[in-house]
Amino acid sequence: MEAANVRRLTDRDIDAAIALTDLEHWGYTRADFRRLRALSPDGCFAAELNGRVVGVLTTTTYDAVAWLGAVIVSPELRGKGIGKAMMDAALDHLRAKGVRSVRLNAYLNAIPFYERLGFRREYEVIRWHGPPGTRGGLGTVRPVRLGDLEALARWDQGYFGANRRALLDRLADEVPATFLIAERRGAIQGFIVGNPSGDACEIGPWVVAPGRETVSRDLFHTVVLAAGVSEVAFSGPSANNALLEFVRELRFSEVFRALRMVWGTDEFAGDPAGIWGLGGLEKG
Ligand SMILES: CC(C)(COP(=O)(O)OP(=O)(O)OC[C@H]1O[C@@H](n2cnc3c(N)ncnc32)[C@H](O)[C@@H]1OP(=O)(O)O)[C@@H](O)C(=O)NCCC(=O)NCCS
Repeated sequence: MEAANVRRLTDRDIDAAIALTDLEHWGYTRADFRRLRALSPDGCFAAELNGRVVGVLTTTTYDAVAWLGAVIVSPELRGKGIGKAMMDAALDHLRAKGVRSVRLNAYLNAIPFYERLGFRREYEVIRWHGPPGTRGGLGTVRPVRLGDLEALARWDQGYFGANRRALLDRLADEVPATFLIAERRGAIQGFIVGNPSGDACEIGPWVVAPGRETVSRDLFHTVVLAAGVSEVAFSGPSANNALLEFVRELRFSEVFRALRMVWGTDEFAGDPAGIWGLGGLEKG
């Protein structure tokens, strides 16, 4: 077999990227890939063989930590080194940019693939979905304002582990009505972002100061009301006990588990006790 050529992913590759990720039912939309490209224009990769896109991988960099995701190779070409070639290209690119830690959420079947490349185990992440019910929102929660974003990104950094201002800016622009913030006497307590599509809503990032479970509930029920959907899904760390309790109450179903892994230094680990919903499995 001729070797696949690993190159930058362009806007023209997005349909091919979706055709590949649809094979695994990952649910990526065009808007998702456009957002990933906008956040890291030179950090998303495609593997091409005989003029056809046969593999995809994205990276999103915050400070000196990057998240890697949407890693997939055409089923008939797996086990031939294409996945490793894309990972090598991505890790070379990130190292050259000064990234010291790379994280990802691995599907359980892919853990050995990442371990061979030097990734180490951190903790499990669980994806849930279900009908949110209607509980009504609360007055302490309000839509985000552009003037909040700088302080919000600094506050979020304490839990996420790095400053993701660029992502928060983009989400405030894309989904202003479902990007909500909770404050008490002017101090940030938490925030939530809903990304509605049809009758369903993907939730995250969703970050709340530990010990403030009522704030998490208020944010959740208010965003569900604002989104007007009958189905929601999100992924969060199994290390957040208050979150596990909340999904039990909601009677949500577990869709699958992934394992958060790290390569390089252990910096920018964040605090899972404050994380209720990831910004996305592929971007942390
Ligand atoms: C995971 C995936 C991207 C790997 O790509 P690939 O092109 O098949 O992998 P490669 O051929 O480059 O394999 C590199 C090495 O990892 C090993 N490997 C690959 N997949 C493996 C697996 N599932 N279990 C154990 N080892 C695996 C290979 O044997 C090879 O080992 P070697 O270097 O000792 O020869 C690909 O199998 C895939 O698309 N899977 C379905 C989607 C998926 O689960 N993606 C991961 C999301 S987190």
